[in-house]
Amino acid sequence: MKRTHHNGTLRMEHVGQRVELVGWVSKRRNFGSIVFIDLRDRSGLVQLVINQEEFPRVDKIRSEYVLSISGIVNERKDKNPKLPTGDVEIVVDGLEIINEAQQTPMIIADETDALEDTRLKYRYLDLRRPIMQDRLIKRSKITGQMRRTLEDLGFLEIETPMLTKSTPEGAREYLVPSRVHKGEFYALAQSPQIFKQLLMIGGLERYYQIARCFRDEDLRADRQLDFTQVDIEASFLSQDEFMAIIEQVASDVMVHVLGHEKPEFPRISFYDALNVYGSDKPDLRFELHLSDVNGVFKDSEFKVFQDTLTQGGALRALVLSGNHADTITRKVSDKYTDLVKKNGMKGLVVLKAQQDTLSGSAAKFLSETEIKALYQTLNLQENDVLFIGSGEWEQTCTAMGALRLQLAKDFDLIPENTFKYAWIVDFPMFELGEEGEIIARHHPFTSPKREDIELLDSDPLKVTAQAYDLSLNGFEVAGGSMRIYDQTLQAKMFNIIGFSNEDIESRFGFFVDAFKYGTPPHGGIAFGLDRYAMALTESDSIRDVIAFPKNASARCPLTNAPAPATEKQLKELHIEIED
Ligand code: AMO
Repeated sequence: MKRTHHNGTLRMEHVGQRVELVGWVSKRRNFGSIVFIDLRDRSGLVQLVINQEEFPRVDKIRSEYVLSISGIVNERKDKNPKLPTGDVEIVVDGLEIINEAQQTPMIIADETDALEDTRLKYRYLDLRRPIMQDRLIKRSKITGQMRRTLEDLGFLEIETPMLTKSTPEGAREYLVPSRVHKGEFYALAQSPQIFKQLLMIGGLERYYQIARCFRDEDLRADRQLDFTQVDIEASFLSQDEFMAIIEQVASDVMVHVLGHEKPEFPRISFYDALNVYGSDKPDLRFELHLSDVNGVFKDSEFKVFQDTLTQGGALRALVLSGNHADTITRKVSDKYTDLVKKNGMKGLVVLKAQQDTLSGSAAKFLSETEIKALYQTLNLQENDVLFIGSGEWEQTCTAMGALRLQLAKDFDLIPENTFKYAWIVDFPMFELGEEGEIIARHHPFTSPKREDIELLDSDPLKVTAQAYDLSLNGFEVAGGSMRIYDQTLQAKMFNIIGFSNEDIESRFGFFVDAFKYGTPPHGGIAFGLDRYAMALTESDSIRDVIAFPKNASARCPLTNAPAPATEKQLKELHIEIED
């Protein structure tokens, strides 16, 4: 079996040459005694012309057969401008059927109507679709480029254990029973966080790893149970110096993999991101900003707004301009109300700007002065639609942020092939958990801002962290922080988030101990590689950039994992299953 060229690379310059090709039959058409076959390999496809009288066995050939052919490159009479190889065809003079194929359970083409579970069950066929191959090729190039930049900057690739002890990343962990140590468990690493910090204490200075991470989370379009991070840590750098390195990593990907210009990396505080975009991972590809209308309603008679303001909450408005008032029917505004309700709000005020006044079910609660003020503050134009959300600050901003994204989708505000990064900085150090307990917003190794250290005792919820997230087109593609390197401060952090001294000793004693022997200042970040590849390939789901992902109900339809274990396996692991 010889191969002189890859099928997708053949062009006019090859006309007259003899080529030997291999690949899969993508399509076959008969024209009397002539058979046309599109032969596909990873690089693309090219049309073969086969004379049936010369090769009678061509009759047998069906889709997805594997062929080896030889022939002469010919200029096509009827060119196909949609195909990169559309100017040429191969007049076949040698044909071998290498392997046959059954009829496939799904169409192998970019456009497929197969359900996702069928695609995942026959993933090896789904992966033959050019669009899937393009995504995996791009992902591989992204990873390769990130590696190159980091290597050039003196980062060392070092592996850390996957079977380890609990790490405090916050997600539920996978436990792996030990056969040798009855009743004891390893945890699968949620991230290499603890180990990369130990590498800094170990004097390695600059580390990176393409690391598999495991989190027992409820799945969403941008989450998997096992996913990949490009994990990075460095010593003796300021936050700005470190962020500049990460900008270099992302810029090189944009320039060398996507062929785009060097992007900008604006810095937006957590507070501003929520206030203006309603998200701590803002999509900057379109405007549509949230506006603060607290001031407009300071003397409001409308009970809902009054209550919000007396409780220190927020009123945020979004204006949909461009003459869409008629489109926002009762049904449509109910849909938007449901959306903000799903995001924790009680309701949504929808108003239309027409003939210098506002109409809508809540309009009767607004005074003339308030209507005027809204026109002025928001620069309302005829047929604008105004949405106002009201409630607790973070929840209101987030719900209005979700509405902002929905409006952008519904009204086509998002340009394609556009990539907008932003650093989100100045995150609060802590937040309240479901039971009102204080939890770390990033993780408990994150350093507070120096000037806020005193607040740790008096008002911890006001403390700002030296943490930063990198967002791209509305996805959090990376997150990291400068770390605590002072032993006493680290112990205090653990105490604030409710770890007793015994907890600390049993869970992280080894880690706290390590800090006693000369810890360098250090900090790091982790890119979610799957998410980054999803954003850069403009895919709708993280599953589209992972070769063998779990489906939305946390199963692998291909292997059928998870599956019951045998009695023997369970016994060896000292485990009994209760009914
Ligand atoms: P964090 O938990 O923010 O930080 O994770 C870093 C990045 O990993 C991605 N990510 C995920 N991707 C897919 N599926 C998931 N379940 C999932 N969870 C997270 C996101 C996220 O930005 N140790 C710290 C990093 C550090 O401080 O250096 C960490 O893991 O893109």
